[in-house]
Order: sequence, then structure tokens, then C-alpha cells
Amino acid sequence: MRLRVCKGRNIFLVGYLKIRVLSGTIDIFGKKFKENETAEIKRLTSAPLVALEDSDIEIEFGPDGYIAGVNFELLPQQWRECVNEILGLKVPAKVLVIADVDSGKSGFICYAANSILEAGKKVVIINTDTGQSEMNPPTTIGLACVENQIIHLSELKHAKAFFVGSTSPAGLFNRSITGVIKMLLEAQKLSPDFILINTTGWVHGPGGRELKETKLLAIDPDYIVFIEKVPGELEYLTTISSKLGKRFKVIPAAPRLRTRGREERRDLRKQYYTKEFEGAREIYISTDDVAFMYSYFGTGLPLDAEELMIIAQTLGFVPEYSEKTPDLILIITERNIPQEKTELLSKKLGRQVRILQPSAFENLLVGLLDENANLLASGIIRRFDPASRTLSILTKVDPEKVRIIALGRIKVTQEMEEVEWLEPWYI
Ligand SMILES: Nc1ncnc2c1ncn2[C@@H]1O[C@H](COP(=O)(O)OP(=O)(O)OP(=O)(O)O)[C@@H](O)[C@H]1O
Ligand SMILES: [Mg+2]
Repeated sequence: MRLRVCKGRNIFLVGYLKIRVLSGTIDIFGKKFKENETAEIKRLTSAPLVALEDSDIEIEFGPDGYIAGVNFELLPQQWRECVNEILGLKVPAKVLVIADVDSGKSGFICYAANSILEAGKKVVIINTDTGQSEMNPPTTIGLACVENQIIHLSELKHAKAFFVGSTSPAGLFNRSITGVIKMLLEAQKLSPDFILINTTGWVHGPGGRELKETKLLAIDPDYIVFIEKVPGELEYLTTISSKLGKRFKVIPAAPRLRTRGREERRDLRKQYYTKEFEGAREIYISTDDVAFMYSYFGTGLPLDAEELMIIAQTLGFVPEYSEKTPDLILIITERNIPQEKTELLSKKLGRQVRILQPSAFENLLVGLLDENANLLASGIIRRFDPASRTLSILTKVDPEKVRIIALGRIKVTQEMEEVEWLEPWYI
């Protein structure tokens, strides 16, 4: 379809669309597209188009794509004022963006990054949103340097990432805060003028408040952008910020955007997992060659002869794999052990006993970490062979480089579907 768009006109772009400028200039999130240039709006997303002059455009519609002309600004005036304030900050500056889900955080960050690039400054983005991790693998906190203007964070490739192992920070706040601090240190090594920090949309309830308040203190930003859907909804944070003498601005959420339901978010993650596992193959790692994090598995000592005898007597066989930690004794066997036997064994050994089958490992998402505990790449455990103590893992990483395997709490199938959530520290 061909369309003539008059100067100043706003068009809401939704779903998969391919736009080619035939004449004139259009702007999407502060990125300008001129004659013959093309913009691609991804499925399940939206974007604001503004004609900077009378323009002719050609639009190709995907299955979920549509457009709507609106007679208001899709990028509110306050967004522009806010970005101007950011551009006026003394560099280097850390800018933290906080808002509820579906408020336009990622969109605002694209817009701010594009404006910073246009001003000839260097910008790095840290994405702490483990659930909507457009630029880094799902369940991680990532960092990317923005070399070219973008209209989706997913156009960026992360340079570093920290593995949290869950799409939600619930129950894992320490990892979430540690991750952002580690990424900040990595970002500073790149000497950017601006570090833009995206956050999860969890801002309400005890968990949301705890996370946002501690993140605010840990990051110690030079400027905070609060995007509000409901005026005053982030009052608890703006009050703290002002008492701390922080510079900040409260801006309204984008007036129109494509919201996403749970299923759609999961569907988008499937796309991000697919990207992360492109070119992956199966590698084999012995539990003796690496360290483990976020797990009891692989962290214990061998049991002594007496303990092994008690186990053999109680279970009626010697299990294929066992180890002891001060917290618990972990046994891995193909056989099905009734709960009473496990309890009896705990009593006899004077320590909690956890008996798992090797299938407990299948499809578990793991982070394969380097010597700085940064993510080399994600992995999916295909199998654990208790007899040879070997894990087979689907990943694109060279096994020689892996120092630490960090266990996630999500199971992801080969089809990149999230199918099961384990309790942290279950294994
Ligand atoms: N001003 C805007 N006009 C039109 N679309 C927008 C605008 N801002 C953001 N969007 C789009 O709306 C969708 C949801 O916004 P966005 O992803 O920026 O919100 P978010 O707060 O980051 O959401 P989440 O909590 O899921 O991370 C995205 O596809 C985004 O590109
Ligand atoms: Mg987002």
C-alpha cells in the first residue's frame, strides 16, 4: 500500500510492517528514514511514525500488521523534554528508566539512545529486564553498545550478559542486583557518555517496591526517568529520589502502544531463545572440570565408606551418583525411590537427603560462564549421565572456555518452549 503522509502527521504502526520511504523523511523513535530507506516493525510490537516533511511511503503488511492515523503526538512532548534534559547532563551519566509493564520503557530507551547518537555521543544500554530481554538472552541482564540508531532493542547484540536463570526476579533479588552492578562495571570499561538502564516492569507490591528501591540505591543513577501510566503511581520512588537529591523527571506513558499478554511475552521469548541457540550443538562436560553455581549438584564431597554402606543397606543398591554438602546429601539414580526410604535414609545419615532422577536435569536452562562469571552463552541440559558424571548440553559455547555452570530454574525444550519452573536450589 502507498500512503501520502503530511508533515507533522502521527501514525501508529502495529505488528509486522515493512515501510519504505519513497520521498520525504519520516521519524520512528527519533531515527530518521529518508528516500529509499526501509524500516521494519516486528510482530507483537508497535512504533510511532511522525512525518518530518510531506512524505510518500510504501507499506507491506504482515499478518498482524496495521496502521492508524492519530491526531495527537505518539511521542509525548514530555518525552522530548526529558531526552533534552538527559542530553544536558554532565557526562558520563547513568540514566535509570523505571515504569510498570507496557509503559514504553524499551521504546523510550530506543528514542533516548537515538537522540544521544545524533548528538554524537557514545551510549551503552543495560537491560535488566530478564523477562523481556529483547537484546540479551532470556533470564539474563545484558549490556550492548549502540553503534547505529534502532527502533527495537532486539536489533542490538549484547556484548556482555549476567545469568540470573529466571525470567522473573521473584525470589532472586540478590542475583538481580549483582547482575546490574556487574554490568555497570563492564559498561564503564567502554567509557560511554551515557549508560541507559532498562528495568523490569515490577514496581508494585512488596516485591516490586523492594526491587526498585534497592536497585535505585545500588545503581546510584545521575538521572531517573519515571514513566507513569497512572499519575502519581510511582510517588514512593519519586519521593525517595527527591529526598536523595536525585535529578529525575516523571513523564506519561506512551498514549498508544501494543500491549502484550503472558502468552505473547512467552512467544517473544521463544524468538529470543531461538536466536541464542542458533548454531548450537551438543557439548559434554564432566562435573569434575567446572564449578557449579545456584545448585547443590556438583558442589559436594564424596561420601565415605560407612555412609555408602548405610545408603546401600537402606536402598538395597549403590546409587550411580552421590555427594554430600553440609546442607544435604544428593543422590542421583535412575530408580524410583519411595519418600519413606528417603526419610529413613535422612534419619540414618543425620542429614537431609535429596534423591533425584537424571531426568530432573533434562531441558534445564543453564548459564555457561567465563572466568569473570559473565555469560559465554546459555545452554540447555540434554542429559546427565550419573555413572560418568557427564552433562550433555546444547549450546554454542566451546566447552574448553566454560569455568562455571550456573543452574537456571526454567526448563526449555529443543523447540524453545518454556515448559517447567523449578524451585531455585532444587537441584
Ligand atoms: N510512544 C510509542 N508509540 C507507539 N508505540 C510505542 C511507543 N513506545 C513504545 N511503543 C511500543 O509499544 C510496545 C510496548 O512498549 P515497550 O516495550 O517500550 O514497553 P515496556 O514498558 O518496555 O514493556 P515491558 O514491560 O514489556 O518491557 C513496544 O512494541 C514498543 O515498541
Ligand atoms: Mg521493555
